[in-house]
Amino acid sequence: MSEKKKALFICLGNICRSPIAEGVFQKTVNDMSLGDQWEIDSAAIGSWHVGNPPDWRALDTMKNHGVPYDNCARQIIKEDFNKYDFIFGMDEANMSDLKKRAPKDSKAKLLLFGDFDPQGDRIIRDPYYCN
Ligand code: 4NP
Repeated sequence: MSEKKKALFICLGNICRSPIAEGVFQKTVNDMSLGDQWEIDSAAIGSWHVGNPPDWRALDTMKNHGVPYDNCARQIIKEDFNKYDFIFGMDEANMSDLKKRAPKDSKAKLLLFGDFDPQGDRIIRDPYYCN
């Protein structure tokens, strides 16, 4: 069997947006019977919430949509840029931080997750600082 494809979802704190993206992506590939072909994780730009579960509102939202989730926040590390095929950021600040941190020979494609939104809603805003 060919090697798994690897996707990492990034946001600032890894307690709201990227855990939901990770959970929904995992559920989607599982529902398509493609779960064994993907390795999926999420991580933060910042270190404030390392080791914590997602914010209760993110957990509630996932529960209400039947999305299982059992992961805790971690911060992105240099090795992620060579492990993952795709690293998705949620907003322009994430993309700018990712580009700054990426090693020169980075394998990962750095992509804005909202660019794949069929409705064209490109920016998934920071829920801590935007209402
Ligand atoms: P997230 O939201 O990036 O979607 O997880 C945030 C959570 C916490 C903070 C910022 C954004 N914070 O600064 O603590």
